[in-house]
Amino acid sequence: MATERTFAIIKPDAVEKNLAGAILAHIEKSGFVVKGLKRVQLTRAMAEGFYAEHAGRGFFGELVTFMTRGPVYLLALEGENAIAKWREVMGATDPAAAAEGTIRKLFGASKGENATHGSDSPASAARELAFFFSGTELL
Ligand code: RTP
Ligand code: MG
Repeated sequence: MATERTFAIIKPDAVEKNLAGAILAHIEKSGFVVKGLKRVQLTRAMAEGFYAEHAGRGFFGELVTFMTRGPVYLLALEGENAIAKWREVMGATDPAAAAEGTIRKLFGASKGENATHGSDSPASAARELAFFFSGTELL
């Protein structure tokens, strides 16, 4: 295993419910180091570009509307095996199917409004980190 960086988002549903701090605490307790952190409101163009792989899926419009309805926290996380580990700590996409103790089980509301995002591969992590952070922000 190697030290990796992955990209995470605390989504608008969680920020609206004042859960960002609890989720950051969960991230730190899970052993990740927060290397980058920004609180921003995404534009439609940013959300559409970020989720371009899902353009054409039935839920795409709903996803873009959801992701732009309020502020999000953008995060660069570092740790051993961080990409796979963050997916495990988040849990399954649908909170109802997520394992006990995972972030989506604890804090997610529905398959669409599921509290957090995580990169699903090294290629996605590289693309997503570069989409939102400049190199000098993550030194
Ligand atoms: P994410 O990319 O946000 O980390 O989530 P994921 O890999 O677990 O799931 P993905 O298939 O990539 O879907 C991206 C996000 O789209 C919303 N979604 N809604 N209503 C639906 O059927 C549905 N399916 C997906 C969720 O917000 C999901 O996280
Ligand atoms: Mg995904």
